[in-house]
Amino acid sequence: MLVVAISDTVLSLLDGRHREDKFGLWVVNWVSNMLVLVTGATGFLGRRVVRELQDRHHQVRCLVHTPGRERLFPDRSVEIHYGSVSDPAALADAFYDVEVVVHLVGIIRQRKRLTYDQINRQGVANVVEAAKGTRLKHFIQVSAIGADNSPAYPYLYSKWRGEQEVIGGGVPYTIIRPSIIFGRGDEFLNALAGLVRIAPVMPVVGSGRNRFQPISVGDVARCIVIAVDRQDLKGKIIEIGGPEQLSYNEIISVVVKTLGKKRLRVHIPVWLMYLATLVMEKVQPRPPITIDQLRMLSIRNVAEPGVVEETFGFTPRRLEGNIDFVRSVGFWDGVKITLGSMPPHIRDH
Ligand SMILES: NC(=O)c1ccc[n+]([C@@H]2O[C@H](COP(=O)([O-])OP(=O)(O)OC[C@H]3O[C@@H](n4cnc5c(N)ncnc54)[C@H](OP(=O)(O)O)[C@@H]3O)[C@@H](O)[C@H]2O)c1
Repeated sequence: MLVVAISDTVLSLLDGRHREDKFGLWVVNWVSNMLVLVTGATGFLGRRVVRELQDRHHQVRCLVHTPGRERLFPDRSVEIHYGSVSDPAALADAFYDVEVVVHLVGIIRQRKRLTYDQINRQGVANVVEAAKGTRLKHFIQVSAIGADNSPAYPYLYSKWRGEQEVIGGGVPYTIIRPSIIFGRGDEFLNALAGLVRIAPVMPVVGSGRNRFQPISVGDVARCIVIAVDRQDLKGKIIEIGGPEQLSYNEIISVVVKTLGKKRLRVHIPVWLMYLATLVMEKVQPRPPITIDQLRMLSIRNVAEPGVVEETFGFTPRRLEGNIDFVRSVGFWDGVKITLGSMPPHIRDH
């Protein structure tokens, strides 16, 4: 039996069919146990990726942008390197002996002296450059569904240009494009919960029929870490989403239900919301929504159904039943979020 199990697993590893069986995982870890550099390790997704990598017995090196944030990993043995993706010298230092990089750094809001191009494209180019001439076996780039060669959506355009830096950079890569990601510490659902707490009706931009495929942060981390060992995914762009395609209206209903409330939806004309958002951007340091994000609410944000099962061998979690964390958003948190400040007990960075 043991011989059959071993040869089965080895065969599946060789032809890239390896899936999520425990014995297979043990063999993979025993064979690989690689040194993985995680950029953006202290972020919403990064901290889950670090945990998942450690659970699978990889050695982890974290690129930490803001000194002090490494506190997140107190009792776990990760190696810390400080630096920015805009600093090639710091990157070169961090790449010593690295076999895999999971590049997660990305910004979804531009600031005065921090543009999408600087981080989402040039930052990627710098990381690719640092990887050249090293022992790197796999470059995992986290992009976003909708990344496209059209400047009409500046965030998605910058993510597409970041992908091009990876593809043209001569590194063995896999690009993963998640749909909207939910989980403790996310911005999207916590902001919606804040609105439910303070508003007697739920404002919806336009028809609210646009579809998303929310995927849990733990499931995205799991896909990324499975990809680390998968030869058959090299050279591919994989779009991932949760098990359901939900309209914006349906997502709101799930949040309202989870909070045990009832709210009527009020549909606001897109032009009026633009006007309100323009004003918010002018007067608030960190508006709850930006013009870019508002525009992205109207584009389809879904993957092919079943991709996670077929490619990564597990079924991702549904939204409903897995967002209890929104209950920790109180009335005053809702007020703060709407005024442009995210309470640290909800999102700590
Ligand atoms: N969240 C989503 O719904 C979603 C959906 C699709 C795709 N994605 C993509 O997934 C990736 C991770 O997103 P996330 O939600 O985890 O973002 P996040 O929570 O904002 O985390 C970003 C991380 O990048 C670090 N960082 C920022 N600027 C840096 C710089 N110049 N040099 C080095 N590190 C820097 C941040 O550190 P500091 O906080 O110390 O600056 C933080 O650790 C991004 O590429 C994003 O585009 C996210």
